[in-house]
Amino acid sequence: MKGIILAGGRGTRLNPLTKITSKQLLPVYNKPMVFFPLETLLKSGIKEILIIVSNDRPGDFMRLLGSGKEFGAKFTYEIQDEPKGLPEAFIIGKDFIGDDNVVLILGDNIFEEDFSEEIKNFKKGGKIFVKEVSDPERFGVVEVNENNKAISIEEKPKNPKSNLAITGMYIYDNRVSEFANNVKPLFRDETDITEIHKQYMSLNELEVKKINGEWIDAGTFESLYKANSFIRQKELNKKD
Ligand code: DAU
Repeated sequence: MKGIILAGGRGTRLNPLTKITSKQLLPVYNKPMVFFPLETLLKSGIKEILIIVSNDRPGDFMRLLGSGKEFGAKFTYEIQDEPKGLPEAFIIGKDFIGDDNVVLILGDNIFEEDFSEEIKNFKKGGKIFVKEVSDPERFGVVEVNENNKAISIEEKPKNPKSNLAITGMYIYDNRVSEFANNVKPLFRDETDITEIHKQYMSLNELEVKKINGEWIDAGTFESLYKANSFIRQKELNKKD
């Protein structure tokens, strides 16, 4: 299993903070934000990681993370010239993925969950992780039937069909690069990852798993603040 951290984009929702650095390098209590998705991958046993960054500050990411040796892993870097959407990660990452399965984690997503078992047991298809939230309209939203099978998926719906937000952690088999190539922009210039989920769903190969641990998409001022206090509390608890 390979891992990709998508840490590009313009971070416009966090302006003017993101005029001085990339969103994923902003501090979350005691570490740069990107450390959290990185630690999630490392904790789940992934050792080969592609870090996709924007053309703004690739040097800052490399200075911070290096070759991966320090983390017992191997890092590769790619630049995404324009934030054309999440599916592009699998097009940029096609050669890196090679014949393997792949996990994509978003560079601004902070998870408490341990995904080791999910990654170890993954065989085929696509798997998404969802969490009940009070503001589903901010996210990709999935509707499931009584057997926990996905029946509809929408990106940032005005009238969400459920309160199950799709988190920024996805496991896919090798077909994902081919599926990413099929995706066209929907209602904005960039492509949506929900269009990849839908292709797996139409083959009845999309699994949906609810997570219990805390999950924060730290991409807004409110959620960045929440992430800071959550990590602070965790650090303080460690000292008790
Ligand atoms: O956080 C979970 C949500 O992430 C999902 O529920 C949505 O389905 C998914 O589309 C995504 O929504 P966001 O609005 O949070 O996406 P955002 O534009 O903030 O991008 C997520 C991360 O990926 C962020 O760290 C920036 C990076 N990114 C984004 C785009 C569009 C890139 O590196 N390249 C890109 O082209």
